[in-house]
Amino acid sequence: MTRELHAVLGCIHVPYHDKGATRAVLAALRRQKPDVIHLLGDVADCYTISMYNKDPARKFLLVDEARQVTTFLDRARDAVPGARFEFYEGNHEDRLRRYIWAKCPELAKLPGLDTRGIYGLTERNIGFHDYRSPVRIGQLWLHHGEAIRKYAGWTARAAMLKTGGNVMVAHSHRQGYAPQTTWEHTLQGWEIGCLCRLDPEYIIGRPDWQQGFALLRLGREAQFGVDLVRAVRGKCWIGGEEYKP
Ligand SMILES: [Fe+2]
Repeated sequence: MTRELHAVLGCIHVPYHDKGATRAVLAALRRQKPDVIHLLGDVADCYTISMYNKDPARKFLLVDEARQVTTFLDRARDAVPGARFEFYEGNHEDRLRRYIWAKCPELAKLPGLDTRGIYGLTERNIGFHDYRSPVRIGQLWLHHGEAIRKYAGWTARAAMLKTGGNVMVAHSHRQGYAPQTTWEHTLQGWEIGCLCRLDPEYIIGRPDWQQGFALLRLGREAQFGVDLVRAVRGKCWIGGEEYKP
């Protein structure tokens, strides 16, 4: 059976990414050589333009964050030069639109002043999907996600029920799998985990998050298989093989 390998990464939150976990995942991708890499949103944190309270000690500009995002994109490209890249906006990238609409609506739709422009996606030959546009690949929907449930798997299940089809989301920062079989069919939902640091300033103690990503194998007639890959303390494992920075 012809198979296409896709990797799905999300909630990286550059510049608050976990450098060890991210490097381990790039090492795995270098070896696995996926045909397509889906960056499923919240690649960038966009802390600078967050409407939430911000730590005054963290002083930098959006351009500083954007430079780190493009450095990450270029490192990912170097790891898998033959892959097709697809960038999906998450709610954090959508902060740019919300900021402009709230603070300087006169700048809305200015060419280049959007996610595609500030990360140079067109020049980098990276496909783009805005926050409101889920993508369907065969029998699987891909979207950053919009609602978070309390425990691992619950967000995947909520997304699956809303979609009415198979779906893969990021957003919750948890890893989970939620199948449901009825007399008619089996539907499946996945949440893929995150690659950000596990010490956010707004959570006391350890967050209930898991680092990792998903490998998606697409076959003929829209068949597909999914493996969730965990990253733990800067290492990840695929088929018994260990990857580290
Ligand atoms: Fe996120």
